[in-house]
Amino acid sequence: MKFFVDTADIAEIRELAATGLLDGVTTNPSLIQKSGRKMLDVIAEICAAVEGPVSAEVTATDHAAMLAEGRKLAKIAKNVAVKVPLTPDGLKTCRVLADEGTKVNVTLCFSPAQALLAAKARAAFISPFVGRLDDIGQDGMGLIADIVQIYRSYPAFKTEVLVASIRHPIHVIESAKLGADVATLPPAVLRSLFNHPLTDKGLAAFLADWKKTGQSIL
Ligand code: G3P
Repeated sequence: MKFFVDTADIAEIRELAATGLLDGVTTNPSLIQKSGRKMLDVIAEICAAVEGPVSAEVTATDHAAMLAEGRKLAKIAKNVAVKVPLTPDGLKTCRVLADEGTKVNVTLCFSPAQALLAAKARAAFISPFVGRLDDIGQDGMGLIADIVQIYRSYPAFKTEVLVASIRHPIHVIESAKLGADVATLPPAVLRSLFNHPLTDKGLAAFLADWKKTGQSIL
């Protein structure tokens, strides 16, 4: 399973990339706004800091303008994945960009039917939002299960399931159990995956006993 980080904070991205555990980055207009920086600058910096795909989202809503924005974003670096919303114009744009060799991440997916359309439009990634479904009392992980089942039934579909809107480690583990290809995690959730109280307790005990031996490895 690939791990992307869902942020436009370059300091966070650099720190997490240094762990060797990061396979890509996703951003959206809200994350760009939160960064307080110019989108084109921040995307260029992120692309230079990580090797994997970096999703940069178009903000136009009609096909012609989306296509122009997508082509401009794709020129920033070879690892840009253009993100388009799951609308008729978005999917039309997806198909054109995909045929031009650009990776497209189709975002704001909330149903299996939408995911099916994105695969037919040759999206490289489909981004179902699990947390936002859970927030309204619907089954976020159920959507992932449905999409994985549908995509696995048609090997001609090359679209990867990128679980988005992740709120906590259980979303990550459930996604992995279902065989989702990618999870995009807020930095705090990615960091929280390391934690277990028995790891801290066990390490403290090992180090205390080691100290008593008076030895050193180096
Ligand atoms: O980037 C898309 C997605 O991960 C957004 O998550 O937390 O705003 O629902 P959230």
